[in-house]
Amino acid sequence: MDTGLLERAASELVAPGKGVLAADESNGTMSKRLAAVGVEPSAETRRSYRANLLATVGYESAVGGVILFDETMRQSMDDGTSIPDALIARGVHPGIKVDTGAKDLAHRPGEKITEGLDGLRERCSEYFQMGARFAKWRAVIKIGDGIPSAACLSTNAHALARYASICQEQGLVPIIEPEVLMEGSHDAQRCYDVTAEILDATFAACDEQGVHIPGALLKPNMIIAGNDCANQISREEVARMSVDCLTNHVPHDLPGVVFLSGGQSDEDATAHLNLMNQIGAGHPWQLSYSYGRALQAHALKTWAEGGADSSAASQDMFAHRAKMNSLARSGDWSLDLEA
Ligand code: 13P
Repeated sequence: MDTGLLERAASELVAPGKGVLAADESNGTMSKRLAAVGVEPSAETRRSYRANLLATVGYESAVGGVILFDETMRQSMDDGTSIPDALIARGVHPGIKVDTGAKDLAHRPGEKITEGLDGLRERCSEYFQMGARFAKWRAVIKIGDGIPSAACLSTNAHALARYASICQEQGLVPIIEPEVLMEGSHDAQRCYDVTAEILDATFAACDEQGVHIPGALLKPNMIIAGNDCANQISREEVARMSVDCLTNHVPHDLPGVVFLSGGQSDEDATAHLNLMNQIGAGHPWQLSYSYGRALQAHALKTWAEGGADSSAASQDMFAHRAKMNSLARSGDWSLDLEA
């Protein structure tokens, strides 16, 4: 394991003003998103939308890495350059989603276990050869009546740690993503408690598997009440509870935390990150983003509208959200900049 290489790549992904673009929607998810905006899903429409997004001028000042799905890793920009090579040419690290999806957990109705460990070493080795320098694995934790179970937490934590150790052995910085879902009627305190539990279990498993924490990144949810909870908390409380939970449950030698957006509005995702970065004291890691929907939703909708100017307008939407989140990295975003 080349710890220097891992630490350098991890710190480049969360360099000041930078975060990660999650553009690794699986073919199934991306096809659903294209269909939802009226575009016929195919390998070519998925390529064409993403090639346009990744041709946006200047986004590299806000994005240190882009997470890709296997299909995209093997596709090309409109000029024929391979997508990973086009990223590298801009100084952006290609990343790769290496899990094979969240599947039903046996005997645990409503709960999931993320699969993809079989053959992972060989796949990581191939992705490294193709230029990837980091990877992602997403575990899904649902809150509900009597769930998550201890079985769900421990199996997902174990899988995340095995994934992270294999990635590091192959030269890839693992983004460790234990996502506690926003779906449900639970309150923010319950989100806090479950997030604390899965973080503790995950880092204990990482310790056991020998994961080099300074060469890894964490991709957590923020602490937010469930979508159906009547008692929603303020943006300030989301920021305070999220920083508090991380401070107490994340090793302080981790270089960076890159949040998922998880279905928050674009503005909430940016405002929450901004507030967290304004809480000056107490967090040793970079606090950044690895947003999918909160960076892309409007860009996708605009691209799908078609017409002569939609490609450029879509790029403008993406460039704007990237800029807003880049400012939030240092607490310098404000609502009037959205106009
Ligand atoms: P969202 O920001 O849309 O939640 O996506 C991030 C991601 O990559 C989830 O794995």
